[in-house]
Amino acid sequence: MCGIVGYIGNKQAQPILLQGLRRLEYRGYDSAGLALWHDQCISRVRAVGKIERLAKKLKDQEIPGSMGIAHTRWATHGGVTEQNAHPHMALQGTLMLAHNGIIENYREIREKLGKDVSLTSETDSEVLAHLIGTHYNGDLRHAVMAALKHVRGTYGLVVMHVDHPDCIIGARMGSPLVVGVGEEEYFIASDATPILPYTKRVVYLDDGEIVELTREGIQTFTLADEVITKCVEEIEWDDEQAQKQGFDHFMLKEIHDQPQVFEDAIRGRLDMEEGTAHLGGLNMTEEEMRRVNRIILIACGTASYAGMVGKYAFERLSGIPTEVDVASEFRYRDPIIDENTLVFAISQSGETADTLAAIREAKRKGAFVRGIVNVVGSTIARETDGGTYIHAGPELAVASTKAYTNMVAVLLLYALQFGRSRRMTIATGQRFVRALQEIPQKMQMILDRKDTIFAIAEKYKDIPSCFFLGRGVNYVVALEGSLKLKEITYIHSEAYPGGEMKHGPIALLSPTFPVFAVMTKNQLYEKMRSNVEEIRARKAPLILVVTDGDDSAKEFTDDIMYVPPTMELLEPLLNTISLQLLAYYMAVSLDRDVDRPRNLAKSVTVE
Ligand code: G6P
Repeated sequence: MCGIVGYIGNKQAQPILLQGLRRLEYRGYDSAGLALWHDQCISRVRAVGKIERLAKKLKDQEIPGSMGIAHTRWATHGGVTEQNAHPHMALQGTLMLAHNGIIENYREIREKLGKDVSLTSETDSEVLAHLIGTHYNGDLRHAVMAALKHVRGTYGLVVMHVDHPDCIIGARMGSPLVVGVGEEEYFIASDATPILPYTKRVVYLDDGEIVELTREGIQTFTLADEVITKCVEEIEWDDEQAQKQGFDHFMLKEIHDQPQVFEDAIRGRLDMEEGTAHLGGLNMTEEEMRRVNRIILIACGTASYAGMVGKYAFERLSGIPTEVDVASEFRYRDPIIDENTLVFAISQSGETADTLAAIREAKRKGAFVRGIVNVVGSTIARETDGGTYIHAGPELAVASTKAYTNMVAVLLLYALQFGRSRRMTIATGQRFVRALQEIPQKMQMILDRKDTIFAIAEKYKDIPSCFFLGRGVNYVVALEGSLKLKEITYIHSEAYPGGEMKHGPIALLSPTFPVFAVMTKNQLYEKMRSNVEEIRARKAPLILVVTDGDDSAKEFTDDIMYVPPTMELLEPLLNTISLQLLAYYMAVSLDRDVDRPRNLAKSVTVE
């Protein structure tokens, strides 16, 4: 969690840092601060709350200087106070540090620092600043290196010192850092979004690396002080992609991005002639693919629901037994894994700590481990032995939408590829490919019907609680719909498979307890209709997602969200969008902070 940005160049650093923090706000936003070098001293300003609070403070006390570091915090150690906000200082304010991650042995370090060091915050990060301070004797990089030898835990950090007006030191272990390479100016940040307005040329730091930024260039070292030559890479995302593009919220923009980014996910990967998909990143020989006798999908949150769709697809298309594991559980349950197990880690950010730890565990046990990731160059992308980018573009709203559909897309492509290499006929494969190609246009049809969804949202926005129901893959749609609603409206909701209602949850139904049910035309349609009848009989308000042309749904309710028909396994790609819009409009009507819901963070890099 948390976001770091640093700048060194010839421009005024303050506006660049502030703008960078705004772009990183999705990583954490409970307090923020910055430190700038100017006139032989370093000035620091911090504020509790969102970045705008810091910006307001800076309006009254603009700080000059062309070198500085900044941070937006999502608290892990210590409460949300100005004292706990970064940057933290040591050596009487001559050394400044901003840190992401967790220093596990900070208590031990604190004790070793002794009584001479007095702390002003409750954070592990301030302890780290002082540790670096005790190793400082005029050489900042070596002080950081020496200090990090004593540290257990994770960090992405930036440090500056008043004696070094031309130097920022960055270091990474478990928390991402990217360096932006401009013309006589250099940037360092937790991800590329703050850098994109200035340059697309970046260097991704790896764990155990230290970087020294000056106005003349950058140099990377190992923790043992060996020079490393790093490649400068070109980022494909453009700056505009990272903006709202006229929508009121990032979430709405990202919902509307779906037809386009879905095309990006399947582009060049479908083979109509053979009725299959080709995902080069799998990095497995035919023989290895045939050896796979079990697939495990590991992820957190929305990504784990994408995994659940993947389970249905892998089992139905390829016949390979497939499990989905929430990453935080996977690590501790001693899963049965061998060299014939294929593990996919699914993650938008590619930085989720639990998912990362789970893949390390799977690797130790000898499985094939592959990533299904959005953020290019992220840690999970780099720590897996192959995999596929989902090409959803930057997703900035905390509640995941387009990344989810593109995760599902890539999982379907993998299931198709495995299916065709096993039991699936070419004709079925070709039908599947055709159906995938039709998805973007069908997604657009749903987006064009948003007025109906808006009206339903207005009608139900004041409910205290509700259920989402579905069967088969639409049970997953219900789970994701329920999660979206919870995340951004704070309305309590639960999702159940339609058949489970009668085993308990039905007790809650009453004329004031609405049920959102997905009842599209597929092999479970009749079963779902019976479940809907059961709800109707308890006089609970019903809101249905049904397939175009299913007029009989009107017998149950007037509140209907129609979706175009598609193959059953592809239904989550469409049905979920209706529920995303429903949650979005309900949240807007309730005046919620849609893009930054309370207590949530986009990228959870702590366990
Ligand atoms: C957080 C986010 C969720 C996301 C989950 C997994 O909890 O709030 O929206 O689904 O992390 O994130 P990942 O980046 O691994 O997909």
